[in-house]
Amino acid sequence: MSFDRLARCYGVLEAFAAGGKMQKCRLAFLDDIPVPRKVLLAGEGHGRFLLECVRRYPEAMIVVVDSSIGMLQVARNKLVLLETANVRVEFVHADVLHWDAPVGKFDLIVTHFFLDCFVADSLAGVVARLGMLASPDAHWLLADFQIAPTGWAGLRCRVIVGLLYRFFRVVCRLKADSLTCPDEDLEMAGFHRHRRTTSEWGLLKSEWWRRERSV
Ligand SMILES: C[S@@+](CC[C@H](N)C(=O)[O-])C[C@H]1O[C@@H](n2cnc3c(N)ncnc32)[C@H](O)[C@@H]1O
Repeated sequence: MSFDRLARCYGVLEAFAAGGKMQKCRLAFLDDIPVPRKVLLAGEGHGRFLLECVRRYPEAMIVVVDSSIGMLQVARNKLVLLETANVRVEFVHADVLHWDAPVGKFDLIVTHFFLDCFVADSLAGVVARLGMLASPDAHWLLADFQIAPTGWAGLRCRVIVGLLYRFFRVVCRLKADSLTCPDEDLEMAGFHRHRRTTSEWGLLKSEWWRRERSV
């Protein structure tokens, strides 16, 4: 599985398919969380969220980990627009499952449109691993697709999500072919959902999770 083939056109594809809707979803709670000190952006891809994160939290140390070197390059190029940003942002080319990272140090974990890349077994491992890297008072932001529970909205979600998985399977060789809800895995990792919002007739969700000891 590799997103390298998509790296250069991912932003254009997103703009064409969704306009600003996915970005709105990524940013839903960014202004509401406590100011983070050490941020982990897992599977950050093209860096649209990274740019806003740097703008909002200029004092934070941000680590971007992604298994696609092409995506990392696109994200790094975006930071050129911000003159001093590079000193606080570390780019790591790694699979999150095998990345040898400091345990318990990140007070903000971000997984936007990332957890949907994994089949159930792998997802549990990814969430558990990221949970280990999170501090005891960490917050976790996630944006993703979901299937609306009923009616035509549910049907619409199934059609769109099904098409997306087919596309990513062909272009990126993605193994997952359906959404797995990460809620149980996040709870197992000690997180509780704090806030949630949905949009696009139930197709998109934004969630803010946090650990018990958070204020
Ligand atoms: C669907 S894209 C999402 C990109 C971006 N976060 C967004 O909001 O659109 C998934 C990203 O996760 C990365 N990725 C997938 N599996 C990964 C893994 N095991 N470890 C690290 N990155 C991974 C891909 O390279 C890609 O950049």
